[in-house]
Amino acid sequence: MARKFFVGGNFKMNGTISSIKEIVNNLNNANLDPSIEVVIAPPSLYLLLVRENLRPEIEVAAQNVFDKPNGAFTGEISVTQLKDSKINWTILGHSERRTILKESDAVVSQKTKFATDNGVSVIWCCGESLEEREAGRTIEVVSSQLEALKAENPDWSKIVIAYEPIWAIGTGKVATTEQAQEVHKAIRDWLKGVSDKVADETRILYGGSVSEKNCGELSKQPDIDGFLVGGASLKPAFVDIINCKKQ
Ligand code: PGA
Repeated sequence: MARKFFVGGNFKMNGTISSIKEIVNNLNNANLDPSIEVVIAPPSLYLLLVRENLRPEIEVAAQNVFDKPNGAFTGEISVTQLKDSKINWTILGHSERRTILKESDAVVSQKTKFATDNGVSVIWCCGESLEEREAGRTIEVVSSQLEALKAENPDWSKIVIAYEPIWAIGTGKVATTEQAQEVHKAIRDWLKGVSDKVADETRILYGGSVSEKNCGELSKQPDIDGFLVGGASLKPAFVDIINCKKQ
């Protein structure tokens, strides 16, 4: 089965009403390759603004969601509230949340299970630190993050995996095409342990300093099915990344 190429934009904790409206207008007016699935993730405060103003074929994602129904959970957002607001996606397990907010593999997996069971699709992130890579532990680290997810038995049809080496995020140091393809292939092989169908159908995105300059080569790799773009998703060049297959 051909996997639909997917480009996500992760705005992180960036933007204002005016700068986010500008990004939305830019996307609304752009000539986008219709064969690409595009999802953008603004800060939660701006989710509705974006959903109400963005062209309908582009989906909107939260950057986090909680794993309990509505209730006494100060500061959290529920899956029900996302769906009520027509936000059909969320990012989970981003390395900034794993490291700075100390979210464990178990917490990330439980949130992923809850979201997918309740109708919100997940851009699920994994990746190794520089120290882990240098110690030759990349595949081991990513596999153990995946094992924690598998233990929750989530709905894999609602999951897109983003492989994001931590040392490549926001640093300008993109993984080489060989480094990225090697890990993507290892993830695909690991997914065969879930099922051949899941291995065949799950999109595996690369994230970490993706730009309009490096996206073309990366997109040609057999196991790279798209990108999760941080810094460059705030810039007009995001359109060139979405259209990378046409370059
Ligand atoms: P970057 O971020 O493109 O700015 O490196 C990617 C991400 O963290 O998702």
